[in-house]
Amino acid sequence: MHPSTAAATTGSQPLQPLLDLITTLLSLLLNSSLTVRSFIGRWQALRTKLSSLESSLSSISDSTHWSQNPLLHTLLPTILSTLQRLKSLSDQCTLSSFAGGKLHMQSDLDMASASLSKHLRDLDLLLRSGVLHQSNAIVLSQPGSGSEKEELVFFIKDLFTRLQIGGVEFKKKALDSLLQLLIDDDKSASLVAKEGNLGYLVSLLDLNHHPLIREKAVMAVSLVVSDSDESRKIVFDEGGLGPMFRIMETGSMPLKEKAAMAVEAITSDPDNAWAVSAYGGVSVLVEACRSGSQATQTHAVGAIRNVAVVEDIKMGLGEEGAVPVLIQLLVSGTSAAQEKAANCVAILASSGEYFRSLLIQERGLQRLMHLAQDLLDSVTMEHVLRAIASLSVSSDSASRFVSSSTTFIVQLGEFIKHENVTLQQISASLLANLSSISDGNKRAVASCMGSLVKLMESPKPVGLQEAAALALVSLLSVRSNRKEFVRDEKSVTRLVQMLDPKNELMSKKFPVMVVVAVLGGSNGCRKRLVAAGAYPHLQRLSEMEVAGAKKALQRLSGNRLKSIFSRTWRE
Ligand SMILES: *[C@@H]1O[C@H](CO)[C@@H](O)[C@H](O)[C@H]1NC(C)=O
Ligand SMILES: *[C@@H]1O[C@H](CO)[C@@H](O)[C@H](O)[C@H]1NC(C)=O
Repeated sequence: MHPSTAAATTGSQPLQPLLDLITTLLSLLLNSSLTVRSFIGRWQALRTKLSSLESSLSSISDSTHWSQNPLLHTLLPTILSTLQRLKSLSDQCTLSSFAGGKLHMQSDLDMASASLSKHLRDLDLLLRSGVLHQSNAIVLSQPGSGSEKEELVFFIKDLFTRLQIGGVEFKKKALDSLLQLLIDDDKSASLVAKEGNLGYLVSLLDLNHHPLIREKAVMAVSLVVSDSDESRKIVFDEGGLGPMFRIMETGSMPLKEKAAMAVEAITSDPDNAWAVSAYGGVSVLVEACRSGSQATQTHAVGAIRNVAVVEDIKMGLGEEGAVPVLIQLLVSGTSAAQEKAANCVAILASSGEYFRSLLIQERGLQRLMHLAQDLLDSVTMEHVLRAIASLSVSSDSASRFVSSSTTFIVQLGEFIKHENVTLQQISASLLANLSSISDGNKRAVASCMGSLVKLMESPKPVGLQEAAALALVSLLSVRSNRKEFVRDEKSVTRLVQMLDPKNELMSKKFPVMVVVAVLGGSNGCRKRLVAAGAYPHLQRLSEMEVAGAKKALQRLSGNRLKSIFSRTWRE
């Protein structure tokens, strides 16, 4: 029966006579089950079920609004037909000599028994849902946005009873309502996880179900898991991940997108990641990144990103050819896909020589350096720079390749000057770590030295002072940069303030290191530092045996002047 006509038929086909018929037949059967002459054991078991049915039906008819429930319009007729079948079987079994085929009768009885169990399950579900105690008026019309939670809970329960008990038409309608609810109200997902039956929804993903039902179930599951953490665990525990991978392989394009979305959501819980290899998911995900639609690619690469740290999966990714696919996505994916691909590449690049050489072989370094010139959001850029950093230490030639790109080195200088602190730190650290930057390239980024001095003043994040100091030391190896540095009064003042022993927040090791580098050569640099008041600070630091302070002091005073200065300042 079509659900939209169900309410209308409530009036025209009253359920009470049907229920009376069933009740009468039930008591006949209960009696005859005691007097059968064949298959007595089976009839004893049937009798138990028949009495349960009797009590379920009486609970149903005690519920205030039972006769308005559209599900009973399909449920009661099927119960009646099961009972009629049983009646004819009981008549045969009551005869003094049973004449029919024995096996045949056994199987008929078993089938009837299975039908009874199903009816009992359905009625039980209907009773437990509480929907029979509510007026039919609001059923399957979605509560508006301002409605009470109670109303929404009732709506969800009603929807799931229809889904579980109803036939194909009921199921379709119920799934449509569920989808509408999930789309209209993104907070409904957690309520659905709590009040609905996600296990049942997952069971609809099975290939045996009507294709349209399966399709709607895929959509509903993917919406629920994307919007609620608790549902992720339930869907996973109910075995939802495996079917989603199968749909990613064989489904239609929109279905593949939804399945990929679900897989990404489910794998975002690190506890679920192991199952990806167990379900053969690695090759499915790699293939989806290679040939899927943009939406599928974006979700699939997100799922790969979620699980790429798992050792097993990492190996699988290498074997399934993920590296060229990821690099392709870096270049051609949506910006969301690009970010996730960059994250994967950074994870793989940091995980050992095997992946580093694969990435370099696929021209990953070139692609990443090219990408660093684009206007990416800072999260993507962070991954890109981390990946470049990991790759550049993998071999001398990689390091030389990165160091020799004036465009890229200048870009690092720009990040140090203008970007947020995360990117500033990575860029400084990368500048510091690249050991073969040419003097020309170092001159090309001289303008970021002022920013590096400023970064040195910041105690957080951890490692920032060190990275900035080391980058400065590298840039100050060039004479013209030293000169430029001391010409910048602000930077000199900052540096000297950092040396001040009274300034306890500051680790002294790093400014001392920079002083040594500034003093690499000319007299002019020395004079400016002295004029800014570096000498007494360094003297004190040297007495405190701060690493490098003694050397800095020597350079500052010049061997010849040393004694004079130290005398002067001690007095
Ligand atoms: C800076 O960028 C990083 C990504 O590299 C991001 O995670 C962080 O939230 C940003 N910080 C600020 C203060 O914008
Ligand atoms: C630079 O090298 C240090 C020491 O090896 C390392 O800890 C740091 O992560 C490197 N920086 C970058 C950006 O890779």
